[in-house]
Amino acid sequence: MIHFHRVSLEYPSTKTLALYNINLEVKKGEFVFLVGHSGAGKSSLLSLILKRFDPTSGAVYVNGQNLKTLKGNRIAQHRRRIGMVFQDHRLLAGLTVEENLAFVLRVLGVPKGEWRDRITRVLRTVGLVHKKRAYPYQLSVGEAQRVAIARAIIGNPSIVLADEPTGNLDPDNALAILEVFKAIHARGATVVVATHSRELVEAYPQRTIVLRSGQIVRDEKGARYNL
Ligand SMILES: Nc1ncnc2c1ncn2[C@@H]1O[C@H](COP(=O)(O)OP(=O)(O)OP(=O)(O)O)[C@@H](O)[C@H]1O
Ligand SMILES: [Mg+2]
Repeated sequence: MIHFHRVSLEYPSTKTLALYNINLEVKKGEFVFLVGHSGAGKSSLLSLILKRFDPTSGAVYVNGQNLKTLKGNRIAQHRRRIGMVFQDHRLLAGLTVEENLAFVLRVLGVPKGEWRDRITRVLRTVGLVHKKRAYPYQLSVGEAQRVAIARAIIGNPSIVLADEPTGNLDPDNALAILEVFKAIHARGATVVVATHSRELVEAYPQRTIVLRSGQIVRDEKGARYNL
């Protein structure tokens, strides 16, 4: 599903070698934690899956497609198939929760007749049906993050990527977010979560990839969290 073949990434502006010789295979339906110190390359790796950059060398494949060959409209199409969750929720401040979700459905070209059902279903998944008319400023940080996850999954993406989705949350809220990712995983999505949170990794023993200075130094199933 996601395949990295000898991938290196050097940021041209600073000549920083953010990733070096990454070989990685993530299968359909797998759940993967990506851990490592600040600057280890976690966000860079996720950026390559989204094709925000092309690797300096090597190749990234998603569903068998070398991302380097995607151009123009095909890049947008590729990104629409991926649900991305950031550390800061990035909701549109002037729109309510349901309007934020409808906005995505419009972009995805989903017929209007389906919106109400899709929005209710996804809000049920994140436990926030009762907040559908709230504006982002009326939500707690944890609630806003759950809406951000709802937004990422409302298009039924087969891949969900999250970059520090619980970075701003206390442990209880972080575990509530984890439950949402577990539910998404249980439905068959491939999920990659970059995190610093030991609690998260230990609460859901899954494949854990440890990056150090741009290289994979460990890749194993289980809850061991040693950076
Ligand atoms: N846009 C950029 N331009 C230049 N260098 C960058 C850029 N983004 C990241 N880097 C560098 O690439 C390396 C990897 O950064 P990256 O953001 O991938 O790390 P990270 O593991 O996500 O860290 P954190 O846990 O702090 O989010 C770092 O040395 C960083 O300074
Ligand atoms: Mg990062």
